[in-house]
Amino acid sequence: MFINFWYPAMQSEELGAAPSHVRMLGMDFALFRDAAGRAHCLANTCVHRGGSLGHGKVKGDCIECPYHGWRFDQDGVCRRIPSIGRDGKIPARAKVDSYPVEEKYGLIFVFLGDLPEAERPPIREILEWDDDKWRATIVSWEFDANMERAVENSLDPSHNEFVHATHGFQGEREDYKVPDMEITREELGVYFRIVLYSPALDRGELKGMKDEESAMEAFSGHHGPNQLWNRLHLTAENWLHQYQFCTPIDENRTRFWHINMRNSWLDPKVDEGVNERNRVTSAEDQVILTKLRPVVPPAHTNEELLMPSDETVLLYRSFLSQWEACGWRIDVDAMKELQKTSAVTVPSPARREQKNWVLKTVPLIAPSPDQSQAAGGVAG
Ligand code: FES
Ligand SMILES: [Fe+2]
Repeated sequence: MFINFWYPAMQSEELGAAPSHVRMLGMDFALFRDAAGRAHCLANTCVHRGGSLGHGKVKGDCIECPYHGWRFDQDGVCRRIPSIGRDGKIPARAKVDSYPVEEKYGLIFVFLGDLPEAERPPIREILEWDDDKWRATIVSWEFDANMERAVENSLDPSHNEFVHATHGFQGEREDYKVPDMEITREELGVYFRIVLYSPALDRGELKGMKDEESAMEAFSGHHGPNQLWNRLHLTAENWLHQYQFCTPIDENRTRFWHINMRNSWLDPKVDEGVNERNRVTSAEDQVILTKLRPVVPPAHTNEELLMPSDETVLLYRSFLSQWEACGWRIDVDAMKELQKTSAVTVPSPARREQKNWVLKTVPLIAPSPDQSQAAGGVAG
């Protein structure tokens, strides 16, 4: 799990007048909307005596702790301590971390890290979002699997034949060989292009296709550690472009928001069918992913036996190594140990300017000297 990336906390429509408690990266956060409706995210633990802010109330532009009523504003600064009365002086340490928030694509994204704005790796853009020739649907799910394992699965062209009934022949063809991949590197990830052959799908009005009936051009890529995109070109004109934004709840459980863009069958009545198809495909992956051992990808590649079709998985891991070399990977064992006695949160941008914080920050894996050199220029 990594700090310094954008993670969706929830769907916009889920955050109303009451605050919400959300668990991300194995830690707790509070989301609320101010009087103007803008969403904010704070560290969830009240610095007084550990109340859960996300279970409190919204009062004007502040969130109020349910335990003794301390109020914190959008910057995490305490504005009211009822026990000391109206004229009491609020101590400078009465503050919690506040994280940058961006609301787009129907999601509330939170930047869980301390990088200044100009250095933050951006959210993957959905190019089709504002194009009325495309229609969007969103569906989400969560299950017990490590996020990196799940991303690797999406970057693996050889599982389709066996795991997805609509993407292959389920191992029934003795002459099967994984299709050739064309791999392309981008600044924050890698993607591949393949042509998949599968039993003809029920494509409704598209019946009448001939030779290309069972061929589908597919692209799959990642962007940062937690964002995925696919392009499925069912025919030359009928395209599905899918974006998955993932958030580790903790190391072994992950939540996914799957945004499906389609340029055909634009009737809203088709939406539920599209969502159901996306759920079925994910459920096929979940059967596999929840049973993988070790739960996290092995630390050493000699504990696996990789084939050329695993190349994109290796490239994803090399990106993760670069971000680890930036000092952004959470030391999960140290975090769990610390959480036995302390409330722990992600460092927010304000920590670069201000001292004097009550909450401890999450332990990060210190890059080795070799890694620091390799990371030159990667940060941001
Ligand atoms: S613990 Fe939050 S006000 Fe006391
Ligand atoms: Fe899959």
